[in-house]
Amino acid sequence: MYTPAITGTGVFTPENVITNAELVKAFNAYADKMNTANADAIASGDIEPMQHSSEEFILKASGIENRYVMDKTGVLNPDVMHPLLRQRSDDEPGIMTEMALDACHKALAQAGRSAADVDLVICAASNHERAYPAVAVEIQQELGIAGFGFDMNVACSSATFGIQAAADMVRSGSVRAALVVNPEICSGHLEWRDRDCHFIFGDVATATLIERIEDANGPHFEILSTRCATEFSNNIRNNNGFLRRARPDGLKDRRDMQFMQNGRKVFKEVLPMVSKHIGDHMESEGIESSDLKRLWLHQANKTMNDFIGKKVLGRAPEPGEQPNILQDYANTSSAGSIIAFSKYSDDLNEGEIGLICSFGAGYSVGSVIVKRHN
Ligand code: COA
Repeated sequence: MYTPAITGTGVFTPENVITNAELVKAFNAYADKMNTANADAIASGDIEPMQHSSEEFILKASGIENRYVMDKTGVLNPDVMHPLLRQRSDDEPGIMTEMALDACHKALAQAGRSAADVDLVICAASNHERAYPAVAVEIQQELGIAGFGFDMNVACSSATFGIQAAADMVRSGSVRAALVVNPEICSGHLEWRDRDCHFIFGDVATATLIERIEDANGPHFEILSTRCATEFSNNIRNNNGFLRRARPDGLKDRRDMQFMQNGRKVFKEVLPMVSKHIGDHMESEGIESSDLKRLWLHQANKTMNDFIGKKVLGRAPEPGEQPNILQDYANTSSAGSIIAFSKYSDDLNEGEIGLICSFGAGYSVGSVIVKRHN
């Protein structure tokens, strides 16, 4: 058996930023347009008018200030309200592959590795741009990696579940090194026309290189332990899928073909699940909260993270102990905790311990306990 370690990470950040002010302006223009179009039905009481969104609400309810997206022209156009991406031929890399390559190159460079050292690519994300062939196999080909690749989807927990799968394969010796890559185009599944959630998501790609600890070229994080759990819930759901055209009204512009959530219930049910999961994981590894130097949490909501941090540490986290990036990136699904890890981990001292945790639809929760070696 080998000991797995994270030796490199990379973050691809799209060029386009949308501020809350821009987002709210576009949403309100759309709401006004719909209310004008439906004036008679609204006057007769048949439908409710759409209400305006507000910057104050968004910041207070979520902590989000900006989000990056692959396209902002469509999202901010009240006549469109979704991203507009150019058609690609089947002979060129897909958009997820393009984002993933940037993140993978950065992770490999940080680890001082090349594609020849890697045997496995896992593309772990909430959505995949096509049914098949797997995006991971395309990334593998573009990087020039021998071995194999596969896609997996555990929604917001995809990265930690992918890290567990990769770490287990490195541990057993079936692969020498693995890239777990999370290209998340959340702007594609977000319902930008729904004020309850239009502010939630952003786009990004992250990559994590996992290899045998004895092969590490530089500072790295030993993977001490991983743990994954799932519990079925309909409170975060998206009904889009390959049977869409087979179902009555399946091809209509239906609300349930984009991200839907019962935000309040998610809040109430996921918080105890995650706090207990982390507590149990630490206890079974003999790790006290006082041993934990850093918490890199899933980035969905600031209040949620403050609560989990307090529960896990038994006190309010000190500044920097539980870094948030959601104010800049919004919720980037599985990539959020890896962005936080990638940006706020290299100051840890030899032997210090931290925990990566992601959670979300499924419900799902995954945690990875790591130890720094300089
Ligand atoms: N602008 C202004 N007001 C808004 C609004 C907006 N964009 N969106 C909703 N509101 C209103 C609501 O209509 C509601 O009004 P009411 O009290 O008159 O009914 C009020 O603000 C409160 O809305 P609510 O949805 O209860 O807010 P919240 O405090 O629960 O915050 C979330 C909403 C989504 C930020 C929060 O529930 C959350 O983060 N949940 C967990 C999300 C999560 O982790 N999801 C995982 C996804 S992977």
